[in-house]
Amino acid sequence: MSTILIRGAKVLGGAAQDVLIEGAAVTRVGTGLSAEGAQVVEAEGQILLPGLVDLHTHLREPGREDSETVLTGTRAAAVGGYTAVHAMANTHPVADTAGVVEQVYRLGKESGYCDVQPVGAVTVGLEGKHLAELGAMHDSAAGVKVFSDDGKCVDDAVIMRRALEYVKAFDGVIAQHAQEPRLTEGAQMNEGVVSAELGLGGWPAVAEESIIARDVLLAAHVGSRLHVCHLSTAGSVEIVRWAKSKGWNVTAEVTPHHLLLTDELVRTYNPVYKVNPPLRTEADVLALREALADGTIDCVATDHAPHPHEDKDCEWGAAAMGMVGLETALSVVQETMVETGLLDWAGVADRMSFRPARIGRLAGHGRPVAAGEPANLVLVDPAYRGTVDPARFASRSRNTPYQGRELPGRVTHTFLRGRATVLDGKLA
Ligand code: DOR
Ligand code: ZN
Ligand code: ZN
Repeated sequence: MSTILIRGAKVLGGAAQDVLIEGAAVTRVGTGLSAEGAQVVEAEGQILLPGLVDLHTHLREPGREDSETVLTGTRAAAVGGYTAVHAMANTHPVADTAGVVEQVYRLGKESGYCDVQPVGAVTVGLEGKHLAELGAMHDSAAGVKVFSDDGKCVDDAVIMRRALEYVKAFDGVIAQHAQEPRLTEGAQMNEGVVSAELGLGGWPAVAEESIIARDVLLAAHVGSRLHVCHLSTAGSVEIVRWAKSKGWNVTAEVTPHHLLLTDELVRTYNPVYKVNPPLRTEADVLALREALADGTIDCVATDHAPHPHEDKDCEWGAAAMGMVGLETALSVVQETMVETGLLDWAGVADRMSFRPARIGRLAGHGRPVAAGEPANLVLVDPAYRGTVDPARFASRSRNTPYQGRELPGRVTHTFLRGRATVLDGKLA
């Protein structure tokens, strides 16, 4: 059994404390701790948080191993400070059966870098026509609780209603990619001043907001749990705020890129900025930050969407949508939320670990840093300043919008059940 003593870390950004890890668990938290033969990690000035939990990661395996595999994606997750990720279902084949979710679950177990909780598809083949075997996926070894057709919207109201009804039986949740398909036909970027000037097909805010409005009403009607993926507009925030004020079971996430970047970047025509939902306006960014700070938006989710360079290094119209995010998420949150005074580190732990684990009903993650808890932890050096270099990514893909940008903070150590997956900023 290994013994690790983390010395002088600011636990959740509070007072400096020592944390003793024995085997897979935290056994003591206090000051002046010592332990015979322990491996000592000097963490003065560093922040200790519970291991991060991502509700929204695209790992691409099976089927698009040229973009990412479970192994490379979980390595990227560990580098980013994550100890658990939810793997989205838009793989090839689609994760719409017990067999496929069990395969992804098993690949996660074998990776050893990060726990992988498969998300099940809501409909067969993500086609929006017939409900997938939600019960079988839940009852499988993968124990699926979160279902999503992400990449596509469950746009048929009857299918959405049935899905919400079905998962209620086992406390599952439907995670909706809110995009009204007819309103976004041919859309290439946010609909607004910039799209008009560039002559690119616009993606109106109402295409997102109308689906969210419908779905919160459906969730209320059914008495079931709805989670809204990647909120991107100020109007979406207002609808979620209203639904929560009614006491309905609605939760929401925001991506790091929607907290930082705007559609002004599309003027570069660099497809690295092409993403679904699209980058919006400064006013939207500010509303999303405020909503994450006040808890209207429950959590940060990366929507890590790796794509090979041939799908991104092309003209805007032909490029795939999505950006990688696991290895930069915490730094972007530090820049947009902590350094702006909107969230303290305890708030970051809440929005990036406690709440996403709770929404996913994920056991053993999103737990307090306390004796008796699993040692899923991340140490962050908040004073670090560095430039993003995609060549150093653990991810198989490089499609980051932050190349060459200076971002604050660095994950120095990640521990998964007491085992270091990242040591001194490098994969262990
Ligand atoms: O930008 C995106 N990329 N949005 C999605 O909804 C899907 C994702 C992907 O799978 O590439
Ligand atoms: Zn999506
Ligand atoms: Zn996604």
